[in-house]
Amino acid sequence: MIEEKRLSSWLWRDYIEIDSTNNLAKAQSLSFDGRPVVFTAVTQTSGRGRLDRRWISEPGNLFMSQLFHASLPISYLVFITAVGIVKTIEELTTDLDIAIKWPNDILISGAKICGILIESAENQTVVIGSGVNLVSSPVDGQLLYPTTNLSSLGFNITRETFLTTYLHHFDTLINICQTKGFSTIRDIWLQYAYHLNRPLRINCGNKITEGVFKGIDEEGFLLLKQEQTIIRVTAGDVLT
Ligand code: BTN
Repeated sequence: MIEEKRLSSWLWRDYIEIDSTNNLAKAQSLSFDGRPVVFTAVTQTSGRGRLDRRWISEPGNLFMSQLFHASLPISYLVFITAVGIVKTIEELTTDLDIAIKWPNDILISGAKICGILIESAENQTVVIGSGVNLVSSPVDGQLLYPTTNLSSLGFNITRETFLTTYLHHFDTLINICQTKGFSTIRDIWLQYAYHLNRPLRINCGNKITEGVFKGIDEEGFLLLKQEQTIIRVTAGDVLT
């Protein structure tokens, strides 16, 4: 470990190299003592993305995993995290076209800048892993989507500045969700929703589901309009 610091309600543990900060956080959940911890690393040797994809982890970008007691459903935390990242980017930059692609990819002008991987862990904890492209835009061989980074857009932000700003927004949003309810978070999220009221194609694993993206329901499921019916989509990967 390089250093350990207190950042508002969080204990921050930074490492030089780790396989995956999500793996580390999950391992630490076995002995979780109730205090929220955020693990970061300068590089990850086996960074993981959603759907078993690789997350290429180059130094200078931010790789963080929050480990804490899951007092809210994971389906809500997905939205809280995405909004927290968006609010952080807005606070630290100007004039960017930021969108959230369901469930939780953050895009700038249509290119991915951040991915989020949420997993449940031991002792009723949850691990929220986020990778933010601060200085480089790694491209996997498969080039599934365009990527971008904040430095190339003219904003040089350190890992610590991003992390500190983000944790502040995250704590505020958790509080808003607990006091005002999930619909307040959902309404903020919808202001940034990619392709709202437009046709979406979603890869649901075994089939492609298509329809017009009409919003998010009370539980966090995506609502798609197909002819005269509205269907709920629980998980998947948006293709358009
Ligand atoms: C995705 O878009 O597929 C999610 C990517 C999540 C990457 C982050 S980086 C920090 C944490 N550790 C990991 O191994 N993955 C997450």
